[in-house]
Amino acid sequence: MKDFNPASSFGYAVSRRYDEHLRGDEAETVAFLARMADGRDALEFAIGTGRVALPLSRTGVRVDGIELSLDMVDRMREKPDGSDLQVIIGDMSRATTGRTYGLVYLVYNTIGNLLTQDDQVQCFKNAARHLTDDGVFVLECRIPTALARPGHQFVDVEEVELEHVTLGVSQYDAVSQILDCNHVTIGVDGVILSPIRLRLAHPPEFDLMAGIAGLQLRERWGGWRCEPFTASSWRHVSVYERVRCGDAINPHGSKTISRATDLAADAS
Ligand SMILES: C[S@@+](CC[C@H](N)C(=O)[O-])C[C@H]1O[C@@H](n2cnc3c(N)ncnc32)[C@H](O)[C@@H]1O
Repeated sequence: MKDFNPASSFGYAVSRRYDEHLRGDEAETVAFLARMADGRDALEFAIGTGRVALPLSRTGVRVDGIELSLDMVDRMREKPDGSDLQVIIGDMSRATTGRTYGLVYLVYNTIGNLLTQDDQVQCFKNAARHLTDDGVFVLECRIPTALARPGHQFVDVEEVELEHVTLGVSQYDAVSQILDCNHVTIGVDGVILSPIRLRLAHPPEFDLMAGIAGLQLRERWGGWRCEPFTASSWRHVSVYERVRCGDAINPHGSKTISRATDLAADAS
């Protein structure tokens, strides 16, 4: 998509219709995140219109946000309690609220909005910067299934209704790991285009980014209800924590090994 501008992909028009079609998993997302917060304060990277942050704050968790789009935040401000949350307008890979949290989270594939590997690494570092010593960073993202598609271009049927249909028209570049997708809604009132560009990555690449940021994988689930993460999972919910002094990361998986002798035993 030539001339794609990430800063304008969640502009005024998108912010107005963003909450028309919720994902439907908000309650379980909030339940999981509230457990992770465990009474501590939380920070949402890319807080958007508060789809998750507002119901999470109603459970008693204080939620702050960092968000690039003023239009999305303006939409949140119009909702009940939407003016109570503190939001920094800026890039989640660099902006700071100047304090730390027991929970930092980034959901709905949004790490992919950072279009280079370096920016995604910076995002992990920024998450680590905002964590208390015992805090956790929760990342939810789709598994890049596009890689398996022949020809790397495809059309998905996203919605079929009486007065409109929505198609996802996509093209994937395996070299840059960039997915270009245009959600095309064809309705009785005309055609609406919602283009988005994402950099896709598999979970092990995120784990390496976490390592660079001084974090390690603590848990990985296939969904918000703690479904097991398997080869057929379509998404992952990953929980990262700080690498503790004396810990080493097991190259074969997420288990944390705390002594050199354990490392030797694991290798044998
Ligand atoms: C798919 S929406 C997700 C919003 C919200 N987290 C949710 O789950 O509904 C993606 C959001 O990420 C924001 N965004 C994209 N790139 C960003 C960046 N570099 N820093 C902060 N926010 C960003 C967009 O403006 C948009 O609000």
